[in-house]
Amino acid sequence: MFRAREKRRRARRARTFAWYAMRMAAPILAIFAFESEPAPSTIAPTGFFRVESIRAQRGATLPDARRLQLHEGTHTLPAGAHASYVLRGSTGHVRYVTDTEKVALAVHPPLLERPVATRASLIPIRKSDAWWELSQDKRRAILEERSHHIAIGLEYVPAIARRLYHARELGESFDFLTWFEYAPSDAGRFAELLKALRATEEWKYVEREVQVDLTRL
Ligand code: HEM
Repeated sequence: MFRAREKRRRARRARTFAWYAMRMAAPILAIFAFESEPAPSTIAPTGFFRVESIRAQRGATLPDARRLQLHEGTHTLPAGAHASYVLRGSTGHVRYVTDTEKVALAVHPPLLERPVATRASLIPIRKSDAWWELSQDKRRAILEERSHHIAIGLEYVPAIARRLYHARELGESFDFLTWFEYAPSDAGRFAELLKALRATEEWKYVEREVQVDLTRL
């Protein structure tokens, strides 16, 4: 009974994902996790990160992995390459920012793959049903008016480059994949940013959060 339901859920998920991949080929991100060093002959040698640590902040952790590989705009591995698990997300339009915040954010567009930014963190997040049951204006009030997420975040750009991927709509187990890149000398500032955000009212609605710290290879 459970297995049949799980099978149906997976089939539904695969259909949804295929639909998104078709409609939004470019913004899709797939993160492949490898338990061991993938054989170089089976895989494109770009987009690799060494996993330094995987720590659950809240809820269940992720399985161990030694390497992560980021693929934008594609979601299949070459024949012969096997990932131990895959996380998927897609970029999309902003939901909460006001026009003034949009302008402030645009002053420092998040530049990924800067040579100096050899550190990265992947932080998949799932929010609670209580969050998703709120109306849009109540969520915005918690996120910004009461938690100052955007205002706090703006203090850390451009040193911390960020990208937000939505995963909930793809039927993934996380709602968001958040991605950050920074220089080793800014690792302390990144930790400070995380501490500030995790102490906010918004974070009371976070029911699963895993921090994966990485080094670009
Ligand atoms: C580097 C500084 C940061 C800036 C400038 C920033 C900015 C933003 C902005 C503008 C949004 C709203 C996007 C929208 O309107 O849809 C957002 C959403 C979000 N950010 Fe950040 N952020 C930063 C750091 C972080 C960090 C460190 C985390 C995770 C630990 C994080 C997690 C999220 C999540 C999960 C959302 C989606 C919230 C939701 O839709 O419920 N952000 N961020």
